[in-house]
Amino acid sequence: MNDPNGMVYHEGEYHLFYQYNPFGDKWGHMSWGHAVSSDLVHWEHLPLALPEEGEIMIYSGSAVVDFANTSGFGREGLPPMVAIYTGHSEETKQTKRVEDQRLAYSNDRGRTWTQYSGNPVIDIGSPDFRDPKVFWHEATGRWIMVLVLAQEKKVRLYASPDLKNWTQLSEFGPAGASRDPIIWECPDLFPLEVDGETKWVLIVNINPGGPAGGSGCQYFVGDFDGTRFALDPSYPAEGALWVDYGSDFYAAVTWSNVPKSDGRRIVLGWMSNWDYTQDVPTAPWRSAMTVPRSLTLARTSEGLRLAQRPVDELTKLREAPPLAFPGGSFVEAAKWLSEQKNLPELLDVEMTFLGVSEETPFVINIRAGVGEVTAIAVVPASGKLIMDRTHSGLNGFHVAFAASARHEAPVEIANGKFTVRFLLDTSSLELFAQDGRAALTDLIFPAPGERSISLSSEGLKALSVPKVDRITIHKLKSAAPK
Ligand code: FRU
Repeated sequence: MNDPNGMVYHEGEYHLFYQYNPFGDKWGHMSWGHAVSSDLVHWEHLPLALPEEGEIMIYSGSAVVDFANTSGFGREGLPPMVAIYTGHSEETKQTKRVEDQRLAYSNDRGRTWTQYSGNPVIDIGSPDFRDPKVFWHEATGRWIMVLVLAQEKKVRLYASPDLKNWTQLSEFGPAGASRDPIIWECPDLFPLEVDGETKWVLIVNINPGGPAGGSGCQYFVGDFDGTRFALDPSYPAEGALWVDYGSDFYAAVTWSNVPKSDGRRIVLGWMSNWDYTQDVPTAPWRSAMTVPRSLTLARTSEGLRLAQRPVDELTKLREAPPLAFPGGSFVEAAKWLSEQKNLPELLDVEMTFLGVSEETPFVINIRAGVGEVTAIAVVPASGKLIMDRTHSGLNGFHVAFAASARHEAPVEIANGKFTVRFLLDTSSLELFAQDGRAALTDLIFPAPGERSISLSSEGLKALSVPKVDRITIHKLKSAAPK
C-alpha cells in the first residue's frame, strides 16, 4: 500500500481508504483498499472498495459525505458518501498517458461503490494532474477541490455546486521547496484557528526533495477567500516548512467531516519513502500508516507553525501502571533507565528535561539487538534534534535507505525546557518534541525482541545538568486486528 485516501468520518466510523495493490507487495494495479475504525486505534479490514477499472488505475483522492445530496447520488433521504479520485491511464501505442478526475458513490456506509456514469468529471488532457481533495466551503456554499499539476509544481483550485460540474478558480505555486526535479502530489487545504483567528493550511507533499531526502510533506500557511490561497506574510522567504522532518512521512492528508463537537483536524501519513519503499524488508505485507495525529497552529516568534500530537485515543493502548522516574539528576535518570530491562517492542515514552543549555547536548539511545542503537540527539547549541538510524538494524536492503541515516529537525529550547514523546513499534519510531512543534518519523529494522533505553552525554560541564524532570515509559498493547 501507499497513500492514505478518502479519509472521512461518517456515522461513528473513521474510514481509511488507501492506495493498494491487491496482487502483490510492490506498487501496481492501484486500487482503493478500505479499513474502518470507531476509535482511530483499532482497525477492521473491509473488502476492496474501488478496484482498478480495466486499464484505469484508481489513484489517490478524497471522500466526502454529501449531506445536502447536491450530487443526487443519495437514496431514501440519506446522504451518499462520494469518493473523488484520479483515474490514471498509462500510455499505449494508440493513446497518451492521462490523469483525470472521477467520482464513485456509496449508499451503504462505504461498503459498496458505484462509478458515476458521467466520469470523468474533470479532464484537461494532462498526464500529471492528480490527487483531488474536496471539502464543503460554508462561506461560499459550494464544494472546493484542490489538486496538483504535479510536474508544474502547482496546486489548482476548482469549485462545484454538485461534485459533478467543476469550474477552475485559481492556482498556487511553485513555492517553498520547488527545486527540479521535484513533483508535487497529494495536496490538502483546511482551516485552523489560532488565537481566535482562522488561518488556512495548504499541505503539498513533494517527491523527491523532502527534508530527509526523497519524499516529504511540506505546508504553507495563509488565507483562503473562497477562490484563492494567499501565503501569510510570515511564511519564510527561503526554503520550506515541513510537517515531519523524518524520512518516512508522505502523502499525508487530513480526515474530512470530523464532527464540529470534536473539532480536531486529524492527519495521517504513509510511513515510507519512494526512495526505497519497494524493498523495505517486511513480509508478507509492505508499508504502514503513521499514527493519526491531531494538528494545531501556533503563533511563534518565527511565524505561524503547525504542531501535532498523536490522537489521545492511542493512550488506550497503554498498559497500567507505567514505569515512572520521578525526577532527579541526569546521572540518576541514566541509572534508573539502565534498570528498566527487557522492555517490549511497543512503547510510548515521555521525557522532560530542565536546565538544558547550549553546553549540554545529550542523547537518548533506543537499543535493540546486539549493537543496534537508534540515537535521538538533542543539540541545543545548533537548535537541532537529530535522529540517527545508522546502527538501528537492517539497512542494507537499499542504498538509499542506508544513505538516509541522520535526520534533523529544528527545535527551539525556551527556558531550558525540552520535552519529547516517542512511539516505538516493531519497525518504526515516531518522535514528537517540544509539544509537537517538531516531528520526526523513521522506519527502523532492529532485531525482534527486547528493547532498552539509555541516556548519554559527552562534554557536560556539570553532570547534574540538565535535570530530568520526569520519564514515563508506557508499555503498549498491540492494536493489530486479531
Ligand atoms: C503519491 C502518489 C500519488 C498518486 C499515487 C499513485 O505517493 O504518487 O500522486 O495518486 O501515489 O499510487
